[in-house]
Amino acid sequence: MNRKSKRIGARQALICTLSALMTVVASGQTPSAVLPDDKAVEKRVNALLDRMTLEEKIGQLSQLFLFGPSKQVDDALAKGQLGSLLFVTDPARINSLQRIAVEKSRLHIPLIFGFDVIHGFRTIFPVPIAMAASWDPPMVSAAQAIAAKEASSVGINWTFAPMVDIARDPRWGRIVEGAGEDPWLGSAMAAAQVRGFQGEYIGSPDHVLACMKHFAGYGAAEGGRDYDASNISETLLWNVYLRPFHAAVEAGVGSAMSAYMDLNDVPATGNRWLLHDVLRGDWRFQGFVVSDANAVKSLVVHGFAKDLPDAAVLALDAGVDMEMAIGTTAYSQNLAAAISSGKVTVQQIEEADRAILGMKVRLGLFEHPYVDEARAARVLASPEHRTAARVAAERSAVLLRNEGRLLPLGKTAYAKIAVVGPLADSQVDTLGSWAFNEDLTETVTVLAGLRNKVGSQAQLTFAPGVEISRKFPSPFAQLSRSKPPAPWTLEQAKNELRKAADLAGSSDLTILVLGETQQMSGESASRESLALPGNEERLLEAVAATGKPVVLVLLNGRPLDIRWAAQHIPAILEAWYPGTQGGNAIANLLFGDAVPGGKLPVTWPRDAGQVPIYYAHNTTQGPESQGKRYWDEESTPLYPFGYGLSYSTFTFSNLHVSQPQFRIGQTAEVTADVENTGPSTADEVPQIYIHQQYGSTSRPVRELKGFERITLAAHEKKTVHFSLGSNELSYWSAAKKAWVEEPARFDVWVGADSQATLHGSFTITQ
Ligand code: NOJ
Repeated sequence: MNRKSKRIGARQALICTLSALMTVVASGQTPSAVLPDDKAVEKRVNALLDRMTLEEKIGQLSQLFLFGPSKQVDDALAKGQLGSLLFVTDPARINSLQRIAVEKSRLHIPLIFGFDVIHGFRTIFPVPIAMAASWDPPMVSAAQAIAAKEASSVGINWTFAPMVDIARDPRWGRIVEGAGEDPWLGSAMAAAQVRGFQGEYIGSPDHVLACMKHFAGYGAAEGGRDYDASNISETLLWNVYLRPFHAAVEAGVGSAMSAYMDLNDVPATGNRWLLHDVLRGDWRFQGFVVSDANAVKSLVVHGFAKDLPDAAVLALDAGVDMEMAIGTTAYSQNLAAAISSGKVTVQQIEEADRAILGMKVRLGLFEHPYVDEARAARVLASPEHRTAARVAAERSAVLLRNEGRLLPLGKTAYAKIAVVGPLADSQVDTLGSWAFNEDLTETVTVLAGLRNKVGSQAQLTFAPGVEISRKFPSPFAQLSRSKPPAPWTLEQAKNELRKAADLAGSSDLTILVLGETQQMSGESASRESLALPGNEERLLEAVAATGKPVVLVLLNGRPLDIRWAAQHIPAILEAWYPGTQGGNAIANLLFGDAVPGGKLPVTWPRDAGQVPIYYAHNTTQGPESQGKRYWDEESTPLYPFGYGLSYSTFTFSNLHVSQPQFRIGQTAEVTADVENTGPSTADEVPQIYIHQQYGSTSRPVRELKGFERITLAAHEKKTVHFSLGSNELSYWSAAKKAWVEEPARFDVWVGADSQATLHGSFTITQ
């Protein structure tokens, strides 16, 4: 791994000044700040610290959720004893809170407003796992830049994204928020999102501060149960789980969120090794660390801190600069006493303040604390943002099956089309898990998108067929604006299923929309089964039994058990939660106005019993039985990592490695030809995988080391190029306790997924 750290701030800023100013001019905005250099920031912060009381210094380290009016918050702001608020999204309210902080407090220090802008603010983009499936970092960057523009227009300065947790267990509900199982793809997505949110430098107009989360190891929650402990080997921690975080730091991320769970028995929020030695020491991270919500207080729940005063001391000591909490923080209640008793020093408090205040200076908050409410309304209404969301959804969809080339559908080929399934006309379930500020009425469902597409050319009829109800109420039910409908009676359930099957039987084609409701993925939304929920499987079989052509569209945030569908339904399109424009995107894809080019960012298991399953595993005893490790099911996935079909076809040939042998530190150049052998323009994602055949530790059978999404016209051929140098060939050796690049023989494959067969090899010598 390239461990050369970039510094946030002046140097980076100056390089980009010219282009940034051009963007500013183009957008008609005043620059949010005169780009300050490190020295100027430091000077300003020191001048403030010189004048701050201890209460004010401690106050900056607290962040509170705010859902409604609160006298306690107003008072704290007027006293200059609160650093940040989260969950306020109305620009008028943000301005009025900011006014208290800036105009009533002694030192006029502005607040920084945070919010979970995860996949869009007003315009909702596909969920992060979907955007990762695009394998298109520039598109992802552009999507998050739009999210940043919308959020910053209302006065939000800071997003709690990107979430860069590697997840190899789809039972974990938060797999939807990340880029899947792979450190290379995850790193590319992490860096792209940081650049999209923050722009060219921290404080770029129309951008926000990014926050990489959840540092670190949250994705390995035992049993896929959200918040449960993670036990991660040293090898996996360095080579897999930490890599996307390091990539985010390299991309200049300005803040990090400490995770909830225990990492190898030490809570991440009290983990000095993680937050201090690795993050600030090894990686030279220059931003500030915020805890996840209530995670400081939870140090007591973990059995790590004796009580709340102890929790505050341990978290600050570990390197948590700001505490995020509901109601009140352990910091505000306990740090003053901890100083008196000598458990923490004023210097420690000031160090945390320096990081937070420095970021407020860089963001230009002192010069421009307020937003233009009228402009916000215009930004949020932008039609270009909706178009970008549709394109993102088109590029994120993955075509899993297309027997007999059922897709794309001919526009006049089917007079009667049945649209069936509980998600087909559900706006909220089209959006995905982290949408709070969308305009729901403008969300285009699959049914609406199909209506827009076929117009009067076909007769479209709809039946939900089944309902999906949950066993336990959602812990976030109070945040949801839609009330769950009353569950169907048995009689109703039977009738609705029959109605849907009859509709399918009397139509020329059925588009079946199945998957999971919005609340089945995300925080506190883990599942022990990957089965299609409720009676969806019965509906699927009943519709297939009509013998009419069926297209299955999946809306979901995790791979599901679709073994039956994968054998019996000719066409399957994984659309994830596609966002505001989802229906239009899916209609374009089904009718060929867009061509699927997405690829799976996760290995797709056959069922939950195979989990965890990932392509980059080691080979061990009895490799010939590697895919047959179970008595009752294959141990191979249903679909491999990197997989996805197109309406066109591609061939790979001529893999060439620049030399047969290299010395450590040299770079192998690899080329391969990709040809679109089909009749129309389409995208392919050439991927390069390597395998180190032997070394100081066993190495995974394959590891992704590069990819590129390309568009090829019919019969066009292109040579793709990948470099394999120290960055790609080195790894953390648990045997040597070091990053190593070892003399060894390497396999290399280039192809369309992690089972690519076009092979080459080379040797690395001392
Ligand atoms: C808890 C979640 O774990 C985190 O991802 C989120 O950013 C915070 N709550 C704030 O909403």
